[in-house]
Amino acid sequence: MTITDRLENFDAMDRIAGRLQEAVSQVVPAGSRAKDALSGTWLKHPVHPPLTDVVPGSWLSGLSVDVLGGEEGARASRRLVGLGILAALPTAATGASDWSDLIGKDRRLGSIHAVANSTALAAQTLSWVERRRGHRGRGVALSVMAVGMSSAAAWIGGHLSFGRAVGVNHTAVEDGPEEWTAVLDSADLADGELTAGQTSDGFDVLLVKRGAVIHAMADRCAHMGCPLHEGELDGNIVRCGCHGSEFTLDGALVHGPATNGQPRFDVRISAGTVEVRKGRS
Ligand code: FES
Repeated sequence: MTITDRLENFDAMDRIAGRLQEAVSQVVPAGSRAKDALSGTWLKHPVHPPLTDVVPGSWLSGLSVDVLGGEEGARASRRLVGLGILAALPTAATGASDWSDLIGKDRRLGSIHAVANSTALAAQTLSWVERRRGHRGRGVALSVMAVGMSSAAAWIGGHLSFGRAVGVNHTAVEDGPEEWTAVLDSADLADGELTAGQTSDGFDVLLVKRGAVIHAMADRCAHMGCPLHEGELDGNIVRCGCHGSEFTLDGALVHGPATNGQPRFDVRISAGTVEVRKGRS
């Protein structure tokens, strides 16, 4: 069993994590401006990952100055420790919002990631206080511990993204077929309903018929891959049933936590069959 297997199956924090998730979701509910802000919906990119570079970057720079800067570097290294502490606040807020959407193994990994980062933050806060009091040696020792913890946390965060596909665009390879491809019989399309279809080459398609117009987009939600046809249609808005991301009928992103819109497909009816292709018009 690998280390990541062990971490993914570490369920001792499941109960408290569930309660904390509920609390975070109440403070930052789906569809709210706060959720969009923390998710990065406004930026069309998750906000948490770039912020995570600032915190350990500042702390590692502080330690570098400790090692290379001699006595003259005391003030600069303390300021770099302080900069990392300040940057940790928005980083933690965006991370908590992202974490509140996770379940199962991903939530466990996210919980351990958060505990490790919180420990590092506490150690660096103590380090800053010790440095301020003139106890630089103690401050450096605490910073070494903190950088170790935040490095471990970063590794887990990396595994969440690269190993578990958390925070990535789940429609990145869902452009749709290049040529017109049959999806379903046009008689199976009910007006004003979310209808799921699939092309012969495996593209899952969401179809919405509105009178004479048919809209089509990738059925796999950009946020975490849930099937949009299991969500709801509210006027001209498709709302994902998992975490509440909202899209127009043309796939444009309205509300997060998704940070990408849905790939849109061209649609036509040919001999009673609904066909789609990669959106061009
Ligand atoms: S999967 Fe999270 S909002 Fe759709």
